[in-house]
Order: sequence, then structure tokens, then C-alpha cells
Amino acid sequence: MSLTVNMSRLRADLVSLSFIGRLTGGGITRTSFSAADLAARQWYQARCAEAGLALRTDGIGNMFAEAAGAGNGGAGSGAARPAAVWSGSHLDTVPDGGAFDGAVGAVAALESVRRLAEERVELARPVRAVVFADEEGNYNHLLGSTALARDFTRDELAAMTGRDGDRLVDAITAIGWNPDALAGNRADPEQVYAFVELHIEQGPNLEASRTDIGVVTSVVAIGGAVAEFRGRADHAGTTPMTRRQDPLRAAAQLIAALPAITATVSDTAVATCGKLVTFPGGANVVPALVRMLLDYRDPDAGRLARLDERLIAAARQAAAAHDVTLHWAAEPPVAPVELNPRVRSAIGASARGLGLSAVAMPSGAGHDAQNMATLAPTGMIFVPSRDGRSHSPAEHTDWEDIENGANVLLATLTGLATTGLPDSGSAGA
Ligand code: GLV
Ligand code: MN
Ligand code: MN
Repeated sequence: MSLTVNMSRLRADLVSLSFIGRLTGGGITRTSFSAADLAARQWYQARCAEAGLALRTDGIGNMFAEAAGAGNGGAGSGAARPAAVWSGSHLDTVPDGGAFDGAVGAVAALESVRRLAEERVELARPVRAVVFADEEGNYNHLLGSTALARDFTRDELAAMTGRDGDRLVDAITAIGWNPDALAGNRADPEQVYAFVELHIEQGPNLEASRTDIGVVTSVVAIGGAVAEFRGRADHAGTTPMTRRQDPLRAAAQLIAALPAITATVSDTAVATCGKLVTFPGGANVVPALVRMLLDYRDPDAGRLARLDERLIAAARQAAAAHDVTLHWAAEPPVAPVELNPRVRSAIGASARGLGLSAVAMPSGAGHDAQNMATLAPTGMIFVPSRDGRSHSPAEHTDWEDIENGANVLLATLTGLATTGLPDSGSAGA
């Protein structure tokens, strides 16, 4: 009988975590470096202390936990330590998000490390649970894992602003951290043997096909930009409709065109304006400025680049049509990745070993795994999302599905940390 997670503990952990940042309407706002995010970090630290795990936080806020004992693949034995098997996800949420996105993978990784330590499983290499900072991109999409994969320059960090316009360096200073430590957190690929992330699907496919487990094949490419249309503030009562330079009209034209623009690229391309701010913001003032946050995606990097060009061209056209100017600040795109066939194979075998059904599938959501894939062989495990809902308080995954996913994760991590990556063979499900 293979090692399994302690589901009552895992469930209790997820429930207590879900009250951190909970809003009266039932959603959760635990955006990165907010008071709620800090409370979730403290909560995680307390769980690690309780379990006797060693915890380290790097300068950008990624947290790493592992058992200190000698049985954990030589953990604690200094310079000659073998590369570790990493697993984890994130504790931050989108504004008014759900209780499962990120939390399931972060807590299941912690539970896996706890179970391996409790059972004193003799490992050839350590298993390390990780919590990535700002996965949801309040300041930068996949901030913490990007720092691990490629680091940021000080100029890039200084220029990063949050959804609400605050600077990352100011937010970090305000919580008492050292802004100088945001740079220089790149991980040594030699120290990462493999990475596996458990996550909710956030789409409808597993539920619709009544499949227990998704073995992820690839993760989508993501682009983002802050588009500002700048016009002229005027009196709403006295300025004739024909004499205005209203930037909100340009923004409206661009937003209305998004479905047609994505359709020219592919039937999988998507584009979203998730936040729009008008300035100065009075019912009786023609806006002087509109700031829009845009997110756009396609599974293919070339098509994402085409989408980027077409969005900029459409924004320019909209600005010209309404006699306003455009300022477009692009986020560096997140590259798509193919996940590692050997890790997929290990996940598929773990699912089969537990008698669970599994299917290979791509991910339309972004994940820290896509950065980790540049450091080490990487795979992802999906579990069903009810009605495919996510980034909403309606997000839900049944406990049984979480238990299945966590057990597949634990079995996969155990295999990777003892016998290692399978030779090759049938990738995935
Ligand atoms: C992460 O949730 C993303 O896909 O934006
Ligand atoms: Mn997530
Ligand atoms: Mn998310």
C-alpha cells in the first residue's frame, strides 16, 4: 500500500487558510504583499514550525520548506547535497478570488513533505515544498518564479507597479522588507532535480469528461500591457459631443474589438481588459486619462506576438479615431512551455497506480511551472474544477478530487526522490 496524504489535516489546513483574506461576500482577496498575504505567509510558517520543517524565504518572497533530517535525501549535510525535487504553488489570490487556486498545490506540497518526514521515508534526494511570490501578477505575472528562473534587473524592479499603481519597491519597503534583496534570487538549476505542481484545472474539461486527473502537456504563452489613453478633461454639461477628446471612447472601441482581434489570430487566442481606471473620475467630468490593464494569451509564442501587434495597431486606431494619445507599456511576455515527457510519464503512472483515470491536456492558465520548466524537468497535475469556474468566489473543487490529486502528487514526488525520473516511455496519461 503506497503512502497517502493525511486528508483530514490537508482539508483542515485548506479551510483555515481560506479564512485569511476572506471578504464578506465569500471571495478571498490575498493579493501579494498585502496584510492578508503576510498573514497567509505567517500561517504557512507556523505549519512548517509545527511539523519541524526548516523554512527559508528569499529576497523576493519565495518560501522553501523541507525536513531537516538526514533521511530527507541528505538534507542538512552541506555542500554535497544532491539536487532536490521541488513542488509547490502560490498562496496569493486575485482580487475576490477562490479558495483553491494556488492553495491546493502549495498545501499539498507541504503535506507531501510532512508525510515523507513522518514516515521517515529514506530518500535519495530531498523534497522541497515551495510557495512562489506574486503568482497572480499584482506586480508582475509569476513574479517569484520568474526571479528564480532568470532574475530581474534593478531597473525592471524599480519600474514595476501594481494593479493599483503602487510601486513594488514601495510595497516591499512598507512591509519592512529590503528592496535591495528583490534582485539576485536566481535558482541554481543544478540544485533542482525536477518540479511538480498540483493545481485545479480552472476549466471545464475534467469534470465534463468525468476524469480524475489531468496530466498537463503544455502551458499557454501570456502577454500583458498597461494601455493609457490620454485626452482632455472638460465639463460634461457644456462641452459639445463633437468637441471632446474623450479617452474612454477610445478604450471602449478597443475593448469592443477584442473578440474580433483574437479571432484573426486563432480560435484559442484570448484577450481581456480586467481593470479600467478613469481619471479624474467624476460623473460630470469628461475623463482626461484612462488606464487599462490588458492580459492576452495563446498557446503559441508566434501567434502571441501577432496578437500583441494587432492589439497595439487597434489601440492606435482607436486613439486616432477619438483624437487622444496612446501610451502602451508592455509586460515581458511569459513563454509557453511543453512539460517534460518523463515527469508526465511519472504522473500518469502514479495516477494509474492509485486506480484513477487520467487524461493529457494543455493549460490555458499561467503557472509557476512554466518558469520552473526552464530550470528542471517539470510536470503538472490537474484536478477538476466545478463548472470550470475560477478567479471567482464560485471556484470549487470537491475534497475527494483534492485528495486524489494530493495522493498522485505524493506518489510522484516519492518516486522522483527515490528511484528518480522514469527512463522515458509513454508521456502522461
Ligand atoms: C494565473 O492564474 C493566470 O493564469 O493568470
Ligand atoms: Mn494558480
Ligand atoms: Mn490564478
